[in-house]
Order: sequence, then structure tokens, then C-alpha cells
Amino acid sequence: MIRAFLSIDLPEDVRQELADLQADFKKEGADVKWVESDNLHLTLKFLGDTEETQIEALKQSLTEAVRGTLPFTIQLEGIGAFPRTTSPRVVWVGANQGKAELEELAKKVETVCEKLEFPVEERPFSAHLTIGRVRSRDGLARLIKKLQGVEFRASHPAPVDRVILYQSTLSPRGPTYTPLAEFPLG
Ligand code: 2AM
Repeated sequence: MIRAFLSIDLPEDVRQELADLQADFKKEGADVKWVESDNLHLTLKFLGDTEETQIEALKQSLTEAVRGTLPFTIQLEGIGAFPRTTSPRVVWVGANQGKAELEELAKKVETVCEKLEFPVEERPFSAHLTIGRVRSRDGLARLIKKLQGVEFRASHPAPVDRVILYQSTLSPRGPTYTPLAEFPLG
């Protein structure tokens, strides 16, 4: 069994912009686990614990399915938190341009996964890129204030030309993401 998910990678310059944004947030001193720059990604579908045989079937179906989507570009913009800004657990950055294409792609991925009997996602896909996860209530008020006052718009675009299947290995030092396969668009 491997713990797996499907996601989209970001170019180095966009990850740097996000690292700068995280650095700005870190000054508030809230107890947040900020996602490491190398690990920043945009999840399309979390697969959870997956059998090798399912992975092989997924590789075959997904290659065909995503080929029909042309490469596109997303522009990261906006900051928010789940479940809400005033009660943050996950701090995320949203997308402006490319959001519709991303939702379309996520829908295709979900359809393929459903056919292969992966657990169905009950919640509607909400395009977001997690940049931090709140660990405790320490400094929470400052984090909330910051979330309400800050604005973000990436100046670099993020071209999307492939979907990547990752293995996620959890450890006390944090997760390690290993790419297992790539599915080109177009
Ligand atoms: P997130 O960005 O919304 O937190 C790898 O764990 C990735 O899968 C994370 O980026 C996480 O997305 C996503 N994910 C979605 N559902 C998950 C779940 N139930 N458990 C763990 N990760 C999940």
C-alpha cells in the first residue's frame, strides 16, 4: 500500500513568491507549520492508501483522460483559510486566471478515480494551494488579523502542462513527496 495523491507542480519562481509570502506570515509568530518550498503543490485529488494494482490501472486511464485537456496557465491570487478566515486551520492561496480549467481538470481526474473505485470526494473541488497548517491556538489572533489584512497576487504565472502522481511518506519531520508518474496535458 502506498499513500498517494495527484497534483500540479509549481515553477521555482512562483514557489519563491510563496516562500516570501510565508516569511511575511512567519513574523506574526503564530504556531503554524508552513509548507516547505519544495513541497508546495496544488492537489487535484487525494487518493489515500492505494494498492499497486490500482496505481497501474490509474496510470493507464489517466494518461488517456488528461491528454484531452490542453495546457493552460494559472495565476495565483488571494489568501484565505479553511474552514474560514476567522477560524483558520489551513492557510491557502487561491487562483484567479485558470481556475475554471483547473476545476475541469479536477473533474476529469475525479471521474477516472471513481471508475477505478477510489473513495469519492464528497466536497466540491475548491482550487487552493495549502501554504500552512495551524498547529495550536498560539498567536492565532495575530494570524487572523494578518489574514484579513494581507493581499497576494503572484507576479509569475504557473503553467500547467502535466498532472503528477505522488507518493506521500509521512514522518515526524514532515511528509516526503516522491513523484511516481507524470501525465502530460494535450
Ligand atoms: P491540502 O493541500 O488541501 O491540505 C497530500 O497529503 C496532499 O493531499 C495535501 O496537499 C492535501 O491537500 C491533500 N489532501 C486532501 N485530502 C486529504 C486527506 N484527507 N488527508 C491528507 N491529505 C489530503
